[in-house]
Amino acid sequence: MKYKQEDNQFKRYCVTTALPYANGAVHIGHLAGVYVPADIYVRYLRAKNEEVLFIGGSDEHGVPITIKARKEGVTPQQIVDRYHEIIKHSFEEFGISFDIYSRTSSQIHKETAANFFKTLYDNGKFIEQISEQYYDEEAKTFLADRYITGTCPHCGNEKAYGDQCEACGSSLSPVELLNPKSALSGNEPVLKETKHWYLPLNDYEDFMKEWILNEHKDWKINVYGQCKSWIEQGLQPRAVTRDLDWGVKVPLPNAEGKVLYVWFDAPIGYISNTKELCGDDWQKWWKAKDTKLVHFIGKDNIVFHCIIFPAMLKAEGSYILPANVPANEFLNLEGDKISTSRNWAVWLHEYLEDFKDKQDVLRYVLCANAPETKDNDFTWKDFQTRNNSELVAILGNFVNRTLVLTHKFFGGKVPTCSDLTPLEKELMKEITEYPQRIGSAIENYKFREALTEMMNLARLGNKYLTECEPWKLIKTDEIRTATVLNFSLQICANLAVLCQPFLPFTAEKLSKLLNIPALKWADAGQCNILKAGQSIEKPELLFEQIDDKIIETQVEKLNATKRSNELQNAIVEAQKPNINFDDFSKIDIRTATITDAEKVAKTKKLLKLTVDTGIDKRTIVSGIAEYYEPQAIIGKQICVLVNLEPKELKGIISQGMILMAENADGSLHFVQPSTLIKNGSTIS
Ligand code: 2FM
Ligand code: ZN
Repeated sequence: MKYKQEDNQFKRYCVTTALPYANGAVHIGHLAGVYVPADIYVRYLRAKNEEVLFIGGSDEHGVPITIKARKEGVTPQQIVDRYHEIIKHSFEEFGISFDIYSRTSSQIHKETAANFFKTLYDNGKFIEQISEQYYDEEAKTFLADRYITGTCPHCGNEKAYGDQCEACGSSLSPVELLNPKSALSGNEPVLKETKHWYLPLNDYEDFMKEWILNEHKDWKINVYGQCKSWIEQGLQPRAVTRDLDWGVKVPLPNAEGKVLYVWFDAPIGYISNTKELCGDDWQKWWKAKDTKLVHFIGKDNIVFHCIIFPAMLKAEGSYILPANVPANEFLNLEGDKISTSRNWAVWLHEYLEDFKDKQDVLRYVLCANAPETKDNDFTWKDFQTRNNSELVAILGNFVNRTLVLTHKFFGGKVPTCSDLTPLEKELMKEITEYPQRIGSAIENYKFREALTEMMNLARLGNKYLTECEPWKLIKTDEIRTATVLNFSLQICANLAVLCQPFLPFTAEKLSKLLNIPALKWADAGQCNILKAGQSIEKPELLFEQIDDKIIETQVEKLNATKRSNELQNAIVEAQKPNINFDDFSKIDIRTATITDAEKVAKTKKLLKLTVDTGIDKRTIVSGIAEYYEPQAIIGKQICVLVNLEPKELKGIISQGMILMAENADGSLHFVQPSTLIKNGSTIS
């Protein structure tokens, strides 16, 4: 049996991009991994006049969203409403040209996902299983893995989650945790039986072997490799429902408190978004054999898009399967993994605040450096170099020189092309090959290679102009100069078409400068796009230099994040083990007033203080001399641990300890009652 459709059978393209979780903004990792390559692919197809649908949207279910809502004291709906708008706006700003960007909390999605589940259920495609899961008796709810914390059995970390220990990286199941605690009530959860529906992936193993391992050797090596390893390990039944109150409700009687697992409903989001956009016409995008379905995703989504979602589609029976799943690896930032929780990211909305109207620069850098076959690193230095030495020095420079010279020598009108030299005839032949060269790389998901080819055309133009030297030629041969500038302008027009998938804002600007409409791919590869005599606009720079200062500011911003993360870690690590109430009640802290203060001779840090504790007047030596002048603190009310054993410091007996708070920069500050109260008052 053959499942794969051949390329020549396809008449239209349905292109999807992973639906980002609506619990945070989007950053350069998202753009480089998924959305820029997908947008290049789609813009290219549209330029080729292909019938194409580009689907995006927010993934609005799942436990991380409920956790964020709890932390902020708002509802999950409020969280997703906020981030859906932020994400949608960022994609619009960067020219990600979705036909629809919708969301999985929409009514149409809930209906589509529930109906999909019901069809599979009615056709006996699920197995029902009862298992024991942790339940919080006080909160009266089953607990998602992330809502259970406890001690990691592998490394002893007391704050491991039910699905993972972030200290040692082990994957865990909640029952492996020692001393499990519910994040809702803090109580120890109990095991309780619950029923769930499972998709028996094991039944699809033979199909996967044939469809992926035999027929889809054309998939990217990183994708194929991950699928192979999953399939060879043996596929297991996978639960497609959860006990949770946020998600698409399980459409069965007696299924109160149960929702579809987020990874079951999210990919159906691609289908519901198509329905939302196309109405009754949606089926051709999902059920016609001549539609090429392509999922753009990051590597962490491979199993869901290559195995689980196709198994769901196969189980339903009337859907097509993805023809390709060109997953990218990850983009790191300055050598470290991008992390939302550590704020280690370049956020798209922040980038645009600092680099107004420079969307194409980021698109260019992220494509040139895309993690297509391995993880890659984004550095601000590389960003600057690619802008200054490539966009400005090659593409921008070539276009600008051509436009400036045309205005200077021919009054801003395309000059006439006369006889071509053998070199020009050779170059013309080469130019005809570019659309095919770039297109073929794009069709094979080699976007870096495609971009390099596009820039090679600009390089070719630059070299030609430099060699012909029209600024000298004009003095002796106006006819040849006209030909050289006509030829250069034709290359500019070709670039306006061919850079369009990668640099849509630049393509638009360049087309305006040349006074040409947005052309199609088939118009490129020719040297007669511009007609002699036609006027062109006054030159404007396509790109500008980014100087060291701007880059240093961005690097400093990241360094500040690093410092703040280190301090935060130190604060968390300084946490001490729990003590019981008896331990606590041994501590005797009182309000007191400093009545005298002087420096301790031959020390930098110590002050000798006399304090009135309400009980007595005593001497305390305190390490605060770097932060307080003795005279300035006389009369201050403070808090003192009065029952600390006396200790000799530099020959002085110190009787107690002043309570100080240490700020992030290491400076010390008195802990004081919020209002003046009687000395000797107890603090508890
Ligand atoms: O990894 C993620 O961000 C998921 N929200 C992707 C979902 S893709 C699709 F299935 F919707
Ligand atoms: Zn651990």
